[in-house]
Amino acid sequence: SNIPQVEELLSKMTLEEKIGQLNLLTPGGGVATGSVVSEDVEAKIKAGNVGGVFGVSSPEKVRQAQEIAVKSSRLGIPLLIGSDIIHGYKTTYPIPLGLSSSWDMDLMKEAAQLAAKEATADGINWNFSPMVDIARDPRWGRIAEGAGEDPYLGSQVAKAMVEGYQGEDLTAPNTMIATVKHMALYGAAEAGRDYNSVDMSRLKMFNEYLPPYQAAVDAGVASVMTSFNDIDGIPASGNKWLLTDLLRDRWGFGGFVVSDYTSVNEMIAHGMGDLQAVSAMAINAGLDMDMVGEGFLTTLKKSVDEGKVSEEQITKAARRILEAKHKLGLLDDPYLYSDESRPEKDILTKENRDFARKAATRSFVLLKKYNSTLPLAKNARIALVGPLANNKNNMLGTWAPTGDPSLSIPILQGLKNVAPDANINYAKGANISNDTSFAKKVNVFGPRIQINDESPDTLLKEALDLAENSDVIVAVVGEATEMSGEAASRTDITIPDSQKKLIRELANTGKPVVLVLMSGRPLDISEEMALPVSILQIWHPGVEAGNAVADVLFGDYNPSAKLTNSWPRNVGQIPIHYRMKTTGRPGPESGEFQKFKTNYLDSPNSPLLPFGFGLSYTTFEYSDVKANSSELGKTGAIELSATVTNTGDHDGEEIVQLYIHDKVRSITPPGKELKGFKKIMLKKGESKTVTFQLNAEDLKFYNSELKHVAEPGEFDFFIAGSSDSKFDGSFTLKE
Ligand code: IFM
Repeated sequence: SNIPQVEELLSKMTLEEKIGQLNLLTPGGGVATGSVVSEDVEAKIKAGNVGGVFGVSSPEKVRQAQEIAVKSSRLGIPLLIGSDIIHGYKTTYPIPLGLSSSWDMDLMKEAAQLAAKEATADGINWNFSPMVDIARDPRWGRIAEGAGEDPYLGSQVAKAMVEGYQGEDLTAPNTMIATVKHMALYGAAEAGRDYNSVDMSRLKMFNEYLPPYQAAVDAGVASVMTSFNDIDGIPASGNKWLLTDLLRDRWGFGGFVVSDYTSVNEMIAHGMGDLQAVSAMAINAGLDMDMVGEGFLTTLKKSVDEGKVSEEQITKAARRILEAKHKLGLLDDPYLYSDESRPEKDILTKENRDFARKAATRSFVLLKKYNSTLPLAKNARIALVGPLANNKNNMLGTWAPTGDPSLSIPILQGLKNVAPDANINYAKGANISNDTSFAKKVNVFGPRIQINDESPDTLLKEALDLAENSDVIVAVVGEATEMSGEAASRTDITIPDSQKKLIRELANTGKPVVLVLMSGRPLDISEEMALPVSILQIWHPGVEAGNAVADVLFGDYNPSAKLTNSWPRNVGQIPIHYRMKTTGRPGPESGEFQKFKTNYLDSPNSPLLPFGFGLSYTTFEYSDVKANSSELGKTGAIELSATVTNTGDHDGEEIVQLYIHDKVRSITPPGKELKGFKKIMLKKGESKTVTFQLNAEDLKFYNSELKHVAEPGEFDFFIAGSSDSKFDGSFTLKE
């Protein structure tokens, strides 16, 4: 390194002090997601045995912690202060999967910026976000935390979030270090079971799963977190190919790598040896910081003495931690993030809550329109039913440990706020689940699923009575907050039976019904899609839930979001995504079963709802899709365009998408690939021409030698409002 301050410190440090910098602890103020919480943190800081802490917040507490480090440890090196700020700090936004459905990178960047402003006001300088794991298996609970299934979209999101958190200048007091996680492939855990193994070809890694991590690195992310899974039989935290050959040598990453929570220790259970062996393996692989497990702290010195780890390797890791502190400006001012006047000015401000409300409206996906029930009239008689309709405990969604559920606006309240003249009555209608043993597993962080003494029959009757005296039924149903997220995988991804029954009965009344569906993952809603109801997907919308839902239901905002995952018809189709290859025996276009083709006896190949799909209160038509040339050279660009017209009777936004198919190449191509998208606003009757530029660079993929190449030949393309469309043009990439 050429940072004199860092080199000077290193020259003074003992081996033990260097190892101390590699130790990340939590006194347990946040969420403990493993069985271990650190002990004697204060004493360890004084002894120079701690490089950073997480789960500590507020300027006062952070100042205290820094004071201990600065005044009582021998070299006075300040601490990194970490936290999981996944979708907003105290002003909680929709879950990341919801935010990604906006396809609005400015919005996502702003979300990250505002989160950084709030978090740094509370003393935090290092965020464990963005999570960019490509996920194509909705059984996996952490699908909620990412941006869905597509490497192109996922890469844009990764970039936007890193830029939002880190800003232009990391020494500014309102920016923080971002961490891209979980490196790598965590979203491909077999069978959607959290923490499970991953075994994947290099081709699939490079073409499908790695691009978002690399995009974060290219955007300058300052830290990387390893994943819990193994890759090629070697756990990520000890995988030298991953952490050194790929991340540093190939991608040029210059920041530091932190393990996940006790993931070094977990290499023992993975079968890699005892704590000393796995710790040595991890540092030698290129891991710099050990989260919570203290394997580095307790064994690395011994490994150096025994010649298993070089002191040089430890110096390198310590240097990277010190460089991060330098980047943040902490080496000059340890109290940069301890300004007591900031929380009141910067946290949970009206501006931030307004932004959370807007962001939520941009994340809602209209999945089905039935008749013209939506938008609702502001003077309607509304029967608001469902266990999530008047519920503060489930609005924030997974991984919102810094958010406060009691601040969230329930849907009932939101509807009343936005439509004071409407006649709104509420009945719970059903429990989220009637299964008490299931509820107990979901309720680890709070009473998400309440099981009343009231019988399900009584609840149902109340809802049906209410429905009878209303113009329209709005049913808020779906998953409780911790039915998705970490360690919340499901093998059955339908709406729980208790609520399914309510939905059926409501649909049977013959009244107009709107299902407002909440979930942290794509659900199997085959049954509900077949009912005469409208469906608005709202994910877990965050602190402004009710207001945002009301804005959309009453038409103050016309929904525009589009799915970033394919929603399956059944769990048997999983993993499912739109980039599937055609195979040598393509499935019939009609969807009709054909023997000896790639298809199922009992289900179409197509998903229930495709990637990129989402409706609006208005309708859009695409015409005049064309290329400005039939050929593209190695240099220069081709322009692909379409005219989009708002043919309905509401103003609205549309997310215009470009897909290509590389028809001939040296490795089998995806059936289609997203290559561009633009979000446009169209007034009623208005038309706009949307143009995308592609050049040879955009057509590159990784070939079997893992070289990034574009191969000459023919490409098909289409421009549409969903991935589920037919090709309408082609061009040739010339030699
Ligand atoms: O950042 C998280 C990670 O995503 C899962 N394990 C715990 C970490 C720190 O809280």
